[in-house]
Amino acid sequence: MMSLLSPVAYRVMAMSTPEERIIVSGASGQLGRLVVEELLGRGVSAQQLILVSRSPDRLAEYAGKGASTPFGDVDEPESLLQAYAGGTRMLMISLALGSESDKRAQRHKAAFDAAAQAGVRHIVYTSFVGADKGGDPVTEAHRQSEAFLQASGAKWTILRNSLYADVRLPQALHMARTGSAVAWPGDPKSALVTRRDFAAAAAGALAGGNRFENKTFTVTGPALVNTADIAAIVGEITGQEIEVVERDPRGPNQGPPGPEGPGGPPPDSGIAEAAAVVTDAVVRLSGREAASMREFLLAHGDELRASAAAAATASTAPPQLAPAPVTPVTK
Ligand SMILES: NC(=O)c1ccc[n+]([C@@H]2O[C@H](COP(=O)([O-])OP(=O)(O)OC[C@H]3O[C@@H](n4cnc5c(N)ncnc54)[C@H](OP(=O)(O)O)[C@@H]3O)[C@@H](O)[C@H]2O)c1
Repeated sequence: MMSLLSPVAYRVMAMSTPEERIIVSGASGQLGRLVVEELLGRGVSAQQLILVSRSPDRLAEYAGKGASTPFGDVDEPESLLQAYAGGTRMLMISLALGSESDKRAQRHKAAFDAAAQAGVRHIVYTSFVGADKGGDPVTEAHRQSEAFLQASGAKWTILRNSLYADVRLPQALHMARTGSAVAWPGDPKSALVTRRDFAAAAAGALAGGNRFENKTFTVTGPALVNTADIAAIVGEITGQEIEVVERDPRGPNQGPPGPEGPGGPPPDSGIAEAAAVVTDAVVRLSGREAASMREFLLAHGDELRASAAAAATASTAPPQLAPAPVTPVTK
């Protein structure tokens, strides 16, 4: 599919005016930093950015370019009004699901309400696929958060993000190291999207003037892929044949599987179903085509080849000689 808008055309269309001031909440995180880079790349000036973080010192390079970097912590609501002062639009990066998962939506609400009170006119929120239905702790927190956002009084844009492609990189590296992979039974497919493309979509929503206000987007990669597809691409890059075995490793009291287990959500979860949808939201919001899983893995080709080579070296290395006994030094 051809891009609908070239980046140049998009830059001309970007509607962020110099009087706009854009807040990024959680600017020092992985997604936050990519959004900042995308905004600057769209011609938003550093002076227009209010980069709120619990660790402003980690944003010194942007402060040096002229951005404001106030302290703000959603768990210290008294810090927020001051941190958001002067902002016209804001990206609220959702908080990670922690042990206090039941309070996640309430914590987001504190940020939305403080932003609206501080005069922010438009809030973009990073939601998750399946938030329209809820039903499990992750999607339920997003479902409630979306409702709180829409009741905040500010204009809103909801970005229901699909699963990050980046989260599957450890699994791909494990495949390269071992020549094998585990997939969930049925090996469900999902529309994996790179963190960078999601950042581009978020930056597009922030810099697009009024165009994306009061709209919900499901933000996905360009195609459905599963573990077998990832294994085939890894095998192509590393010159191996990756064996894929379908297995459900879940047992009682077991946490989520690591890179050696199946990637992505279990097939019987609502998230797996919700993530099996492809949209063109990345190009509509950012003007740029979403990267495929192949492009993402090719960009990590050196890491994948190094992982395969290290495993090959380890398996052909001669056995280590036992170290000579150490004679104790006595005086
Ligand atoms: N779709 C997916 O597959 C997927 C996968 C992973 C994560 N996610 C979601 O995407 C979000 C961003 O991901 P990421 O990769 O950028 O994660 P990350 O690098 O761990 O960043 C976490 C973010 O949360 C912010 N944060 C944490 N506690 C906060 C608090 N008390 N007050 C204000 N901000 C707080 C951090 O901001 P500061 O440190 O700058 O304060 C940081 O921006 C995650 O939090 C999660 O909701 C989605």
